[in-house]
Amino acid sequence: MRQTIVAGNWKMNGSKESVSNLVTGILAGMAEVQSKVIVCAPFPYLSEVEALATHSQLQVGAQNLNVNASGAFTGEVSADMIKDFGVQYVIVGHSERRSLYGETDDVVAEKVQVALDNGLTPLFCIGELLEERESGNTEAVVSRQINAVIDRVGVEAFKNIIVAYEPVWAIGTGVTATPEQAQDTHAFIRSLLADHDSDIAQSTPILYGGSMNPANAEELIACEDIDGGLIGGASLKAEDFLRICKAG
Ligand code: 13P
Repeated sequence: MRQTIVAGNWKMNGSKESVSNLVTGILAGMAEVQSKVIVCAPFPYLSEVEALATHSQLQVGAQNLNVNASGAFTGEVSADMIKDFGVQYVIVGHSERRSLYGETDDVVAEKVQVALDNGLTPLFCIGELLEERESGNTEAVVSRQINAVIDRVGVEAFKNIIVAYEPVWAIGTGVTATPEQAQDTHAFIRSLLADHDSDIAQSTPILYGGSMNPANAEELIACEDIDGGLIGGASLKAEDFLRICKAG
């Protein structure tokens, strides 16, 4: 039985005040939550969020990392620095990083490897574009994205990886994949892992992301192969986020 995981990806949103209010609001409702809950904050707020979340069930993640350990990489943040704050999770390969910052499957696979090497748990994101779905290429795209990581770190490494399937056409659009669409792709992703190791396929958490909200979370998370959600917009309001956390 896989534990439900609900992760918030705040993206580039927040201020000192709003972040503090958001975390305080989430913490106030955590007693009724069974799922594992992670919030992925922008770098400047990681320290504050980690401090507020200490001694609670709330886990903290970053949204990106650089593959280098240190040095002349202006504006970048290493895995070591993320660890330094006591942060345990990091989003890798989000579609916004792939499309806006040119992260290829190879770059994403290297980031997954560096995260794992440094004891961080990657929230490894995959998902197809609208035209890829419409041309019947969803399975080919997610296979390519998953296989790039399996080739680099091996399937055993998925013991420490959380997969997030985020169809790009559903991100920030208000268009959610239907439970059937999401379940079909999740089952396919699990089958790709099972081609290598069936136990690992069964134990790997696969989260859904893309316009998940309090109204649709329960139906999605109830699907056999959907183990929780990676939430963008709805993770910025404590009340909405908590309702999703309680759906699991
Ligand atoms: P939305 O929930 O805003 O669609 O964003 C999903 C996402 O990109 C999470 O990483």
